[in-house]
Amino acid sequence: MTMAGEMSMIGSVILALFLAGYLGQQYLPPPKPKVIGLDLGTTFCSVGVFHPGTGDVEVIGDEEGRKSIPSAVSFTSTEVLAGHDGLDLADSNPENTIYDAKRFIGKIFEQELLEQESARYPFKVINNNGSAEFFVTTNQTFTVTPEFIGSRLLLKMRKMAERHLGVPIQRAVISVPAEFDERQRNYTIRAANLAGLDILRVINEPTAAAMAYGLHKVDVFNVLVVDLGGGTLDVSLLNKQGGMFLTRAMAGNNKLGGQDFSQRLLQYTMERVRQQYGIPPTLKEDIHHLRQAVEAAKLNLTLQPSADLRVPLHLEPQGDPKQPPQGPTKDPIIFQAVITRELFEELNADLFQKILVPVETVLAEGHLGKEEVDEIVLVGGSTRIPRIRKLISEYFGKEPNTSVDPDLAVVTGVAIQAGIMGGSWPLQVSAIEIPNRHLRKTIFN
Ligand SMILES: *[C@@H]1O[C@H](CO)[C@@H](O)[C@H](O)[C@H]1NC(C)=O
Ligand SMILES: *[C@@H]1O[C@H](CO)[C@@H](O)[C@H](O)[C@H]1NC(C)=O
Ligand SMILES: *[C@@H]1O[C@H](CO)[C@@H](O)[C@H](O)[C@H]1NC(C)=O
Ligand SMILES: *[C@@H]1O[C@H](CO)[C@@H](O)[C@H](O)[C@H]1NC(C)=O
Ligand SMILES: *[C@@H]1O[C@H](CO)[C@@H](O)[C@H](O)[C@H]1NC(C)=O
Repeated sequence: MTMAGEMSMIGSVILALFLAGYLGQQYLPPPKPKVIGLDLGTTFCSVGVFHPGTGDVEVIGDEEGRKSIPSAVSFTSTEVLAGHDGLDLADSNPENTIYDAKRFIGKIFEQELLEQESARYPFKVINNNGSAEFFVTTNQTFTVTPEFIGSRLLLKMRKMAERHLGVPIQRAVISVPAEFDERQRNYTIRAANLAGLDILRVINEPTAAAMAYGLHKVDVFNVLVVDLGGGTLDVSLLNKQGGMFLTRAMAGNNKLGGQDFSQRLLQYTMERVRQQYGIPPTLKEDIHHLRQAVEAAKLNLTLQPSADLRVPLHLEPQGDPKQPPQGPTKDPIIFQAVITRELFEELNADLFQKILVPVETVLAEGHLGKEEVDEIVLVGGSTRIPRIRKLISEYFGKEPNTSVDPDLAVVTGVAIQAGIMGGSWPLQVSAIEIPNRHLRKTIFN
């Protein structure tokens, strides 16, 4: 064989090896995600991963496939239960079922404010030199910190991810509200450390929501994020400069959300019962059934023009508790009503209008005209309400971004950031945040 022939054979072998490697890379299963994205919310939590192969985000379900778990942890004499299992005990074990812990994490309280806050809960909140702790009594008595509650929820999500992916997980990216200060961020990291997780980056929730829409990759400058949940409204104005998001202004309303819209519907329905039967519903059980029915109706009205209420009511106590029952107990009456979307919108017109107040504030504080907002991102379940979407699109004269499930927008963005931190291919454009220490959030009530 000639020298040249030998060379060309070696060449072919190298080429073949190269091809095999190339093809192998094409057809081998893509690497498993190693970094998870966590949304530790006040009422719900979610965990997601970025799949490098497909470029998709997957939000991981619990044992029953539910993609959000309630932020509740319940203590019994034998167990600590987090998520749905924890919340299921809220009625039977109210003093030892802790929720809303995020409202307390890393915060220093004045005694008076802490007492005010604690009065709303069935569990006991104590003041440990300005920090909140929860008092738990099972067959032992002890206190737990808000970060411990957070750690149990994060541990639950870590296990959900490990079970689903089949690999151990030690690293994560986590989101926090934009207004969290350094101490609140540190305590959130501590919660993750207690759950055996290293936090590679903490990102703001509005930034995560913007990333869920890929706004870190496209040419936009001003992004407005409206987050309307069950009980609070948060509006943030983000500014993107050279791949970095900066929070320019924040405003919100701590007492406006889906619960208030349901409450208006409940008041209306109770008045209808009073008109029809001459007695207002006062039995706890009746009110509970009415509340469940109006909540269901509210959700249906997002997709349908009207909803039918059918609620069994007793209206009067069942006989005299001291007397043995005389014959069969009285059958409940069936209260029926049709609720139209128009009626729901009328009942809430003033509350819906209040959504624009913090929107106008962030624009004023950011010295920005509404026509200068490039993209509007809607987050939180209550932004599904058609009238609210319309109100916002009419105000800005453009459609908001709504294609991502508003309950999962934050976790989707955090998972994308987790994919970037995990070095996933194909190469993603990263977005970094400029921390803004001096920014204050304006609160309306
Ligand atoms: C509490 O009760 C459980 C079982 O009911 C028991 O396993 C546990 O040891 C008890 N703890 C204490 C401190 O008594
Ligand atoms: C209580 O907190 C203050 C400041 O927040 C600190 O100076 C003091 O040492 C703390 N006391 C205890 C007993 O931890
Ligand atoms: C937060 O943690 C960092 C790093 O551990 C530390 O340098 C900083 O002082 C902490 N800040 C607060 C307010 O606790
Ligand atoms: C809501 O919709 C579901 C399914 O379409 C239906 O079963 C339910 O009765 C509706 N509820 C109300 C209050 O309209
Ligand atoms: C939503 O965001 C994308 C950027 O990923 C943009 O292209 C689109 O036009 C936006 N607006 C709407 C109404 O979907």
